Amino acid sequence: MSQTEVVIDDKRFVAKEGSLLIDLLIKHNLKVPYFCYHEALGADGNCRMCMVEIEGQKRPQIACDTLIKEGMVVRTKGENIESVRRNILELELINHPVDCPICDQAGECKLQDFYMDYGLYDSHIDQADKVHHQKHIDLGSNVMLDQERCVLCARCTRFTADITKTHELGIIGRGDHARVSTMPGKKLDNPYAMNVVDLCPVGALTSKDFRFSQRVWFLTSTPSVCHGCAKGCNIFIDHNREKYKDETIYRFRPRENQAVNGYFICDEGRLSYKALQENRQVERDRNGAVCSEAEALKAYCKTLEGAKGEIIVLADPNLYREELVAIEAYAAHIGASLYAPLEHYRDEDFADDWLKSSQRAANAKAVEILEIKTTLPVEKAGLLISFNHPDAAQIKAEKVISFQTHIGKDAYDLTLPLAVFSESAGTLVNEEGIEQYCPRAIKRNEPIPTVIEWLTQIEGGDK
Ligand code: SF4
Ligand code: SF4
Ligand code: FES
Repeated sequence: MSQTEVVIDDKRFVAKEGSLLIDLLIKHNLKVPYFCYHEALGADGNCRMCMVEIEGQKRPQIACDTLIKEGMVVRTKGENIESVRRNILELELINHPVDCPICDQAGECKLQDFYMDYGLYDSHIDQADKVHHQKHIDLGSNVMLDQERCVLCARCTRFTADITKTHELGIIGRGDHARVSTMPGKKLDNPYAMNVVDLCPVGALTSKDFRFSQRVWFLTSTPSVCHGCAKGCNIFIDHNREKYKDETIYRFRPRENQAVNGYFICDEGRLSYKALQENRQVERDRNGAVCSEAEALKAYCKTLEGAKGEIIVLADPNLYREELVAIEAYAAHIGASLYAPLEHYRDEDFADDWLKSSQRAANAKAVEILEIKTTLPVEKAGLLISFNHPDAAQIKAEKVISFQTHIGKDAYDLTLPLAVFSESAGTLVNEEGIEQYCPRAIKRNEPIPTVIEWLTQIEGGDK
């Protein structure tokens, strides 16, 4: 496709001839309302919201199905086009229940946004005259459907038809009885099903897991990367600190990255935020008794000094590269052998041919690049220091110090709490070798040290 010049709202833009006009508008942040178009699903042309005026055309045209041509002159603003949008929006809303105060999508709903941007009309329809549909349908896979709120954009049905190819959803009925439904005898059931919640532009599809837990305007979004497998899908961590409480994660959402995950994430990765907050190791534990940080550090140094025989350090291959580098330097400093065994993280049942990888360790590639040994050590250790490795209990050792994010079933000589990935910051290298930085998202009221914070304290105590 050759490059050509078009004029939009009196400004010149260069675009590929034959590409979609709506993509150019989105790329340059030129505001045009739309429900049914989505970059991952393409044009469907059913909502008619994306109308623009094109010089030489008698009637307004939909931008999502208009191909760029040389010399095209487009208008996205003006009284004429705005009145067309207003009328289409009113048509979309004729039977909408307008139950925004109790709708979980409020604050991130395209209907609300477009009404405020282009609507602002007085309704011609009385609430009593509206066609009603079912409001609480459990579709399966953690997704709830409210048929009345649906604008029939068909994003959800196209997702199951074109992306997952599982075909669970369809639009049934005609005219104002048309509604989204599962196919007879089917449930929404595929490992990526919850993406329909993000795709739905209104409050028709909501996540059973998230709904009614928070109003979205209270949430802060921090960009991050899922640690569910070595794919490294990009996510937003949505979190909030309510008064006196610890900062809490309420959901993971996909973040677009065309080089990694496109627009989507798997449901297991999406729900993996829960494990970051459950069953956490928060206390320092010495021989089964809770101790202070100063006592723990003293016990650490004493155990290290008294170590007889080889010292083995185990590092979790989910740790950030900066943490692995720090552990590698520390292991060299104390003359220990370092391992980051990977076998535990192989999961062939999890893998598919889209996003999900059979390597469940998020930073396995960084381990490989740093040339850290990935087998399980077989020799008996005088002292084992484990940085959150799940195989720590399998190593034969006289003494064990375990830094761990979660309470485990095994007791060690010294157990020290460790921050989870959302409470730390650093770089993941995904299985394709793409480096991705994750900033710290969560600050606890009583912070749990990260690997680097622990090592800084330990080395400080060493001097
Ligand atoms: S449920 Fe949502 S995504 Fe599906 S057709 Fe209706 S509005 Fe569109
Ligand atoms: S495919 Fe892997 S990295 Fe992506 S969301 Fe799922 S578990 Fe997370
Ligand atoms: S986005 Fe163009 S018709 Fe729906």
